[in-house]
Amino acid sequence: MKRRSGIVVAVILLLPLMLAAQIPGYGTDIEGKIDALLAQMTLAEKIGQLKHYTGGDSEEHRQMAADGTVGSFLNVTGAGKTNALQKLAVENSRLHIPIIFGQDVIHGYKTIFPIPLAEAASWNPELVERAAGVAAREARASGIHWTFAPMVDIARDPRWGRIAEGSGEDPHLGATLAAARVRGFQGMDLSAADRVAACVKHYVGYGAAEGGRDYNTTEISERTLRDIYLPPFAAAVNAGAATLMSAFNDLNGIPASANPFTLTEVLRNEWGFKGFVVSDWNSIGELLNHGIAADGAEAARLALYAGVEMDMEGRIYRNHLADLVDKGTVSTAAIDEAVRRILRIKLLLGLFDQPYTDPLLEKQVLLTPENLMIARQMARESIVLLKNDKNILPLSKSTKIALIGPLADSKQDMLGTWSCMGEAKDVITLLQGIQAAASKPGHVVAAKGCSVTGNDRSGFKAAMQAAKNSDVVVAVVGESADLSGEASSRADITLPGVQEALVKELAAVGKPLVVILLAGRPVAIPWIADHAAAILMGWHGGVQAGPAMADVLFGDYNPSGKLPVSWPRVVGQVPLYYNYKNTGRPTSEQKYTTRYLDWPVTPQYVFGFGKSYTQFAYSHLVVDKNEMGPQATLTCSAVVTNTGRVAGDEIVQLYIRDMAASVTRPVKELKGFKRVHLKPGESRKIEFTLGPAELGFHDADHRYVVEPGLFKVWVGPNSAEGIEGQFTIR
Ligand code: BGC
Repeated sequence: MKRRSGIVVAVILLLPLMLAAQIPGYGTDIEGKIDALLAQMTLAEKIGQLKHYTGGDSEEHRQMAADGTVGSFLNVTGAGKTNALQKLAVENSRLHIPIIFGQDVIHGYKTIFPIPLAEAASWNPELVERAAGVAAREARASGIHWTFAPMVDIARDPRWGRIAEGSGEDPHLGATLAAARVRGFQGMDLSAADRVAACVKHYVGYGAAEGGRDYNTTEISERTLRDIYLPPFAAAVNAGAATLMSAFNDLNGIPASANPFTLTEVLRNEWGFKGFVVSDWNSIGELLNHGIAADGAEAARLALYAGVEMDMEGRIYRNHLADLVDKGTVSTAAIDEAVRRILRIKLLLGLFDQPYTDPLLEKQVLLTPENLMIARQMARESIVLLKNDKNILPLSKSTKIALIGPLADSKQDMLGTWSCMGEAKDVITLLQGIQAAASKPGHVVAAKGCSVTGNDRSGFKAAMQAAKNSDVVVAVVGESADLSGEASSRADITLPGVQEALVKELAAVGKPLVVILLAGRPVAIPWIADHAAAILMGWHGGVQAGPAMADVLFGDYNPSGKLPVSWPRVVGQVPLYYNYKNTGRPTSEQKYTTRYLDWPVTPQYVFGFGKSYTQFAYSHLVVDKNEMGPQATLTCSAVVTNTGRVAGDEIVQLYIRDMAASVTRPVKELKGFKRVHLKPGESRKIEFTLGPAELGFHDADHRYVVEPGLFKVWVGPNSAEGIEGQFTIR
């Protein structure tokens, strides 16, 4: 930052995020309807709206529905079951208030898409929005009104199993995809028969769990919270998200499910959020374990007053709120405000007018050919080509392939974590997909070799035999679906079991070795990175994992995915992220610098990295202003040329660095990206706009500012390469 005559010149700006868009359909006319209902509700009925239970099939749950003393259920699915329970509420309860049915529709309902981290590797918000739209259509037709997605937690530590559920490490990519998913789920009208309310989670900081251990404590400075962890939530709220879920973690000493700063000050007061917040599973009850509530009554009061309106499966509101109101410890006004927010969403969902779903519709919309086509497109755009020595890929369809490894023919694992109503029988495995695409199915011979975990090497011999009889060995290794996701953190993120030993023996056979990794996180593979001829990251690709991988392997689709996370060489490098601070002693070969003695500090593969079967050249970087004021915008452009022999998509990325500011700034920050399709020899000028929304940060007083001084800018294929320009803010 420049100082003029000793005075710090900075422009304090209102974050563009604060112009929060409304939840689709919201207008103040709705409040009159809520007032009329509230005026008739008993305290028991009001507290009922704040309760959310799993199951819905017990006599107790049915009775609560009929009495009007439950607001919501989760894990009740299918038109038959949801309609039956809804009928009890709508026809038997005194005020006929409908139930809202929620479900974890994370990456598809019945048509399962690649896991969210994989979808993020597509860097394609339009396609991600379409995928969420498919999930919404299938879910709503099955009686679900509300999905516990998108999960927008920033994750800088791949030990954390839930990295699989989010969009990776970057706030800009994360915010863009968060908004896309909210639009995809909710559309323009929450009451439409093909839309559901979104629930943005887990608010907030959950991904920063110490040691990557799920549910662990987090310490995040307010600046880092505002610059890194909050932007995807803000973008989702700005896109009209109807609800949020409060997280499990302790955030700077105040658990996220009882945190007035994040839930009230930021969410309601700064962002103007009008929807409701549901706790995570018993996260209000867990305030006792956190040690900030001595008993359930205290936990109920803390969570409600912090801004958690609905208690998921916790029984804390149910058991304590009525007493607390009687004693005067909790006000009726606080209860009314919570009920108001929940009724608002029920009204916007149109549940008072149309509480039921049409069972015929449910039959028509699940797993349609169009849904499967979108799933295949999503899966192939999410595949990342990490290495391709001597252009060994794509393979010819007449190549004799030995497809070896425990994941080559696994259906269940392709569904990944949170597979909702997805069924293994609907998955096409890699073996099936590759055999179907090969010129003769017999060209592809499979052997399992070993299991994902365990020490059994008895299958190695058959695997080596298959390898010897082939032209190319394709090893399909990685993690089973249950090794990532909730409560699935790993301290050792190498290939589990004897898979690496299998790959080493396969390499010794001497045939060209292609490794396909299927996993919910980056896997530390330093040996494979050095020794395999080609490496593809296929994540857990959903029901169309096989056809999508065949498309890429044989070159029917030219891979375009880019990593949404930095890929460590070794677990000791984590947390690892590209937008780090420079330190006073930046990394170099010198001893007293930010480095390790035993490993490089750089990742195996950098954030934004991914190869193609063609090559792209970057030239002609133009920044249209050398200098501008802090409120102004400029255009930065570059020309991208396909210099190779096949058509392909490139994801052009723009990064900036604020060279000197009042607080330390990251060495690079992603501020824009565009997917461009180029034929061989074709060039295109790609333009980005940079203005206050991209150039600011939170200063020492946590105000959003754009400060004067020099900025560098890069346009390139990933976070480590690119052509460089600069400009100055006056
Ligand atoms: C998870 C949430 C999920 C909820 C309901 C919790 O354990 O943390 O992400 O939405 O369960 O299934």
